[in-house]
Amino acid sequence: MKKIVTKNLYLRQLTVDDVSQNYLSGLQDPEVTQFTEARHTKWDKEKMIRYIEESNVEGVSQLVGIFLRKIDKHIGNVRLSSINPLHKRLEFGITLFDKSEWGKGFGTEAIEGICTYVFEVMGFYKICADYYSINKASAKIFQKLGFSIEGVFKDHFKINDHYVDSVRIAKFNHTDSKPTKNSV
Ligand SMILES: CC(C)(COP(=O)(O)OP(=O)(O)OC[C@H]1O[C@@H](n2cnc3c(N)ncnc32)[C@H](O)[C@@H]1OP(=O)(O)O)[C@@H](O)C(=O)NCCC(=O)NCCS
Repeated sequence: MKKIVTKNLYLRQLTVDDVSQNYLSGLQDPEVTQFTEARHTKWDKEKMIRYIEESNVEGVSQLVGIFLRKIDKHIGNVRLSSINPLHKRLEFGITLFDKSEWGKGFGTEAIEGICTYVFEVMGFYKICADYYSINKASAKIFQKLGFSIEGVFKDHFKINDHYVDSVRIAKFNHTDSKPTKNSV
């Protein structure tokens, strides 16, 4: 993939050489992973390496690192998956594992950069994601960036002794002006 450069960040394909103690500590922090499926894994460096290798599958999925430009610091990742060139759509998930960088607009900026890349460089039409309904920061970001809610999967995730909904969202490339055809 081409490097993505935004105001404060750059994003590029993650490699096993990017495994670091800061990255591992983030994945081992329950506050970081509480609203992601990464919470089910007991992370160590070996598992991280396997995850990176298994995520970088040409044409299918890709792990993209998020870096602060000013100090060249790796703060999180976006994982692109279910890349489907036939239907011009893909899925993504984001984790800023470095909690000290939360609340500074970097999550919003990274997703905005990914959307621009997916629409303008890849030429795709639709970008999809799911989030835990109780994840307020995700709800805020996706709403702010013009994602629409496609549906809610009731009680989709189990957290300790309760269940929470999964919210399915998507954003469309409105410059791809092919007509939609949904009636019978
Ligand atoms: C979710 C996450 C990507 C947000 O990134 P971030 O850089 O902290 O978010 P931003 O600074 O871009 O802010 C997002 C918005 O949510 C708001 N927000 C953040 N935390 C919030 C909270 N607990 N309650 C309500 N709003 C909150 C912010 O105020 C901001 O809104 P604003 O621009 O109107 O002020 C990041 O916290 C993260 O990676 N968390 C761990 C993994 C995770 O939950 N991933 C999401 C899976 S879908």
